[in-house]
Amino acid sequence: MNTTACTYIIFGATGNLARLKLIPGFYHLELEHKLPAGTRILAIGRRSWDRQTWLDDVEQLLRQSGHDFDAATFKRFSERLDYHQGDLEQTECYQTLAKKLTHDHSFPRHMAFYLAISPDHFAAVIESLSAVNLLQENQGWRRVVIEKPFGYDLASARLLQQRLQQHLSEQQIYRIDHYLGKGMVQNVLVFRFANIMMEPLWNRNYIDHIQITHAEQLGIGSRGDYYDKAGALRDMVQSHLLQLMTLIAMEPPATMDAESLRDEKVKVLKSIRPVELTTLDQQAVRGQYREGSIGGQPVSAYREENHVASHSNTETYAALKLFIDNWRWRGVPFYLRTGKRLADAQSSIAICFRHPPLQFFKDTHVRCMTPNWLLLGIQPEECIRMELTVKESGLEMRTRTSSLDASFREPDQRRVDAYEDLLLDVMKGDRSLFLRFDEVEHAWQIVDPVLAHWAVDQKPIATYAAGSWGPETSRRIFEKSAQYWRTSLLPECQPDA
Ligand code: BG6
Repeated sequence: MNTTACTYIIFGATGNLARLKLIPGFYHLELEHKLPAGTRILAIGRRSWDRQTWLDDVEQLLRQSGHDFDAATFKRFSERLDYHQGDLEQTECYQTLAKKLTHDHSFPRHMAFYLAISPDHFAAVIESLSAVNLLQENQGWRRVVIEKPFGYDLASARLLQQRLQQHLSEQQIYRIDHYLGKGMVQNVLVFRFANIMMEPLWNRNYIDHIQITHAEQLGIGSRGDYYDKAGALRDMVQSHLLQLMTLIAMEPPATMDAESLRDEKVKVLKSIRPVELTTLDQQAVRGQYREGSIGGQPVSAYREENHVASHSNTETYAALKLFIDNWRWRGVPFYLRTGKRLADAQSSIAICFRHPPLQFFKDTHVRCMTPNWLLLGIQPEECIRMELTVKESGLEMRTRTSSLDASFREPDQRRVDAYEDLLLDVMKGDRSLFLRFDEVEHAWQIVDPVLAHWAVDQKPIATYAAGSWGPETSRRIFEKSAQYWRTSLLPECQPDA
């Protein structure tokens, strides 16, 4: 697919996401000569800045945060940048924007509008862009990139979709889940569908259970306002973790085009057994961090964070057990968990195989007969590791766990941020790594019953010490006493249950 030059218009350009991800992402694409000639990036912000002030700000941002600053590249990059001052709640902002984009022919007619703004404004911004005819495709394509969360629950997601549909076709909407842009997440597809070796084992006959983890050491920083209303289940599970689950569980798509891929993901989501009230407590666990220590430094409790209610019941940890009722996966538990202020920062998928049918070595020195695990490290370590039991050298029959390593990235290779890939995909018109509305809908259908129950549950929320692996109660979702949370990508013996 060709990358076409376009005008990228960023709403919320001075906000966190733009500063941390989008601007550095564009800059790295510039460094690698990936931006087509003529591409422009127009920042929209409320601050009464002119273009030069914006350029100075971007330069400072790139110099400070160690983004391989290079003066010649920055010069090239800065020629693409412009700033438009406006308040996105005022009609005038859109009228002046339309005038600028229409009359100044240095802005390509293909346009991508990136909404890096609070979700409350998504629909209103689209309506305002439509009112000044900026979404009509008669002079070039018009695409809109929408950040998560897409809605607050199923009902609000449908309402948002209805409002967007009045002005945009599905082809124009790019619902971003930045997890899908991560190199290792894409490697899951390559690993599964470019190698035949695992396929016969990839099912209920050989797999005991699957764990999908996103653990963070960070707290909620300055996002208390958003997070206290969202919580871990909405923030991470409904989107990123369910997406990972679909990639692990889906059938091979007919082709790798966007629709075939997304059709297969939707089939997985549709086959997930609904969480019933009667089993909810065995399937879902929530927790909130209290004070503790991370890396030897004391950190405060969630309830003491800025913009968090002092009696907040919002979960900063969520674990969910799900079953996929289809031929391949029936009976295999998928354990999804995420948390802030945990012991380690790590995202991974751990696949635990069944035990061999007979314990041949029970009368020998073999003590730790661990099952085989396949470990897919997403971040910070990007790896594919298969754990096998091997004999130790020596006369006695002793074993240890050894691992076959197919690491994804050489230590000296630059880590490409997920956003870089996705920003380019929008220019190419490739929607494979963006969410179709039915994916979003089904994902809400899965978590909604849990959210609804937690919203009215009077029991005090379980807490966990910051710097630990989450609430003790998280073990209650395991199907068997032999199952345990994997916390490391290095060989580990099963802890005492
Ligand atoms: C975001 C969540 O979508 O993903 C954050 O809102 C979370 O709470 C983040 O920290 C994790 O993404 P990454 O790429 O930093 O691991």
